[in-house]
Amino acid sequence: MANDEGLIYEYVWIVIVASIVAGMAASLAYYGIALDLNPACNATPIDVTTLTEEFQPGVKQIAPGVYQVNILAGQFFWNPNKIVLEDPVRIEFRITSKDVVHGFEIVGTNVNVMVFPGYVAEFVWEPPKDAQGKYLIICHEYCGIGHQYMQAELEIKRSNTLLSQGDITNGSNTEDVGEFSKVKYLKFNGVIVSEG
Ligand code: CUA
Repeated sequence: MANDEGLIYEYVWIVIVASIVAGMAASLAYYGIALDLNPACNATPIDVTTLTEEFQPGVKQIAPGVYQVNILAGQFFWNPNKIVLEDPVRIEFRITSKDVVHGFEIVGTNVNVMVFPGYVAEFVWEPPKDAQGKYLIICHEYCGIGHQYMQAELEIKRSNTLLSQGDITNGSNTEDVGEFSKVKYLKFNGVIVSEG
């Protein structure tokens, strides 16, 4: 009798635990399938010990408006730390770390990825047509004593500058930060190429 009673509790707890697991799996499926929130970033393994030979930081234009940007992260720098792109349509980023985990974020945009040593984070950003001027790049993952100094700058130049956007080129990113906060809740998802 006592044993049967114990068995019932076992079943009850099995059902409770199974429902929690099923609930979690269902929420993952919901985010991935219904909301289409999937990591927009590839991670290709790279050998940290031979990194300097295999990975060349810098900017390459591979077609009109198409850029390949290789960035090396380390305590406490982004290399290159000043990137200037003219009329970018498609930017192919490849970012890796030589030491610890860093977080690559272009403030005022929806670009936000984790950068792990031993992996090259690869993703494409098609900046909005009105994106121009100077954008601050920060590290959003605490990586050591100099974390807050880990900054870089991305400048987007437009040859057909619209007069109405003249004020954005003057280095103020205030408006962009506002836009950023709108998509902030999607941050865990890495790069979000949403906004319509
Ligand atoms: Cu790199 Cu924080």
